[in-house]
Amino acid sequence: MAEEHSAGSQKGHGKDNIIPGVKFIIAVSSGKGGVGKSTVAVNLAVAMALTGAKVGLLDADIYGPNIPMMMGVTKPPEQKDGKIAPAESHGVKLMSMGFFVPEETAVVWRGPMVHTAIQQLFRDVLWDKLDYLLIDLPPGTGDAQLTLTQLVPLTGAVTVTTPQEVALHDVRKGMMMFQKVNVPLLGIVENMSYFLCGHCGERTEIFSHGGGERAAAKLGVPFLGRIPLDPAIRDGGDSGTPIVVADPASPQSAAFKDIAQNIIAKVSSGEGNTPIESLLSKIKQPFSAS
Ligand SMILES: Nc1ncnc2c1ncn2[C@@H]1O[C@H](COP(=O)(O)OP(=O)(O)O)[C@@H](O)[C@H]1O
Ligand SMILES: [Mg+2]
Ligand SMILES: [Zn+2]
Repeated sequence: MAEEHSAGSQKGHGKDNIIPGVKFIIAVSSGKGGVGKSTVAVNLAVAMALTGAKVGLLDADIYGPNIPMMMGVTKPPEQKDGKIAPAESHGVKLMSMGFFVPEETAVVWRGPMVHTAIQQLFRDVLWDKLDYLLIDLPPGTGDAQLTLTQLVPLTGAVTVTTPQEVALHDVRKGMMMFQKVNVPLLGIVENMSYFLCGHCGERTEIFSHGGGERAAAKLGVPFLGRIPLDPAIRDGGDSGTPIVVADPASPQSAAFKDIAQNIIAKVSSGEGNTPIESLLSKIKQPFSAS
């Protein structure tokens, strides 16, 4: 069952593997909320599934779990032999705290509750065999992120940011957290990069161009690609049919698919195993601390 892991798969963290059938576990993170982390996670997961891979998506954003809505799943998952069978949508297996906590409930989770809740999302769910498990992390660097890195051997983390210079500070903070727990950073995705007019297709740079790419270069981590700010992408999330499914031939979908391919290439080549310390040591002029 767990023997077929290839390079870059789970190893070496000296912890019991609670999801042994999963080859690559990839965290999707962001410095703050509202940058489109969930939108990116959903479209990347579906894009990966479209390549024929077995893909799971775990909505670990316990503070605002909206992946079920974005994936068009309204029915809570079913119990099977004391475990929970993940929901399935657009070819992706999916589990979310949102199935169990009503959306209106603004739960104030404390450390131990966060730990237990996240642990259950792994241990009590029949993930079975997966090539990729994407995890939508809560924004920032709190209890949930740390819990997660302690519970499962992450192959690497992808960080989503918007192009504004001010967002770079958050990117660096997130990197420091992953570094502390030895999780390699696979790269940066710049979301809402430019505005793509739905009427004429014209491209408008709303923010200064290339903020995410400059951040990546400055921090010495790969730049995975940019996603336009586009009403069709938002509609995809609102309607439960991600744009990668709703309009697969669009340039917006191509952007997501390219990034998915980049990530697949990186983890398959074992790049996720490069310790982040060596990358951070390249940074000459760090941003001011915290
Ligand atoms: N590239 C984009 N173009 C247009 N709207 C977007 C884009 N990315 C995200 N959104 C919208 O922005 C809002 C926040 O996105 P979401 O993925 O929920 O962010 P986060 O998970 O980081 O809080 C949502 O309404 C979403 O549909
Ligand atoms: Mg979200
Ligand atoms: Zn126009």
